[in-house]
Amino acid sequence: MRRIRYQVACSLDAYIADLDGKTGWIVDEPAIDFGALFDQFDTLLMGRLTYEGLVKDAAGFWGKTVLVFSHTLRQEDHPQVTVVSRDAQSLLQQMRSLPGKDIWLFGGGELFQSLLALGCVDTVEPAIVPVLLGGGRPLLPTPAVQHRLTLTSHQVFPSGIVWLEYTVNPPAESSA
Ligand SMILES: NC(=O)c1ccc[n+]([C@@H]2O[C@H](COP(=O)([O-])OP(=O)(O)OC[C@H]3O[C@@H](n4cnc5c(N)ncnc54)[C@H](OP(=O)(O)O)[C@@H]3O)[C@@H](O)[C@H]2O)c1
Repeated sequence: MRRIRYQVACSLDAYIADLDGKTGWIVDEPAIDFGALFDQFDTLLMGRLTYEGLVKDAAGFWGKTVLVFSHTLRQEDHPQVTVVSRDAQSLLQQMRSLPGKDIWLFGGGELFQSLLALGCVDTVEPAIVPVLLGGGRPLLPTPAVQHRLTLTSHQVFPSGIVWLEYTVNPPAESSA
């Protein structure tokens, strides 16, 4: 079964963007093979703000299928992507059961929050950048239901980035 993976860079104080919505604080890390990372996915999931701010003008979206979640965008204005405004849970459950590569929950935090609540996130994979932003767009906005995680992998890079991979435990194991 394909997994839905929240793969994201965040600060040590758990922000994915600074107060201006920017990500220029993410340091370069030559040891990370971004080609190999991208090759693990054939589909990207994005919230509207991530789509508008980060990748709307990206050429061809790196050859991936892109689903943009929004209640305000109109599909006809964005023919290069699929706009999802309703029935996210059933759509994603169906996608998980079809053959294909893993699905990248590209961000941002608001989309993660909503898909986590729907039980549609399999892993959380933050690449923690050695910076304290002091504020910004959170990795997981509040309120959110408590979820327990299981660490499956960790890597430490020369830049100081620490890349963690967790699976999301079943709800029965996540009592408050
Ligand atoms: N550090 C990283 O690796 C990384 C990665 C990605 C993004 N970012 C940054 O994160 C910031 C954006 O994140 P964010 O948390 O503020 O916003 P976001 O999740 O990208 O977008 C929020 C919007 O997505 C829509 N949405 C969310 N869940 C939905 C659902 N279940 N169904 C339908 N629509 C849904 C809503 O749009 P409508 O208002 O249209 O309904 C909502 O206002 C940007 O600054 C971006 O640069 C950083």
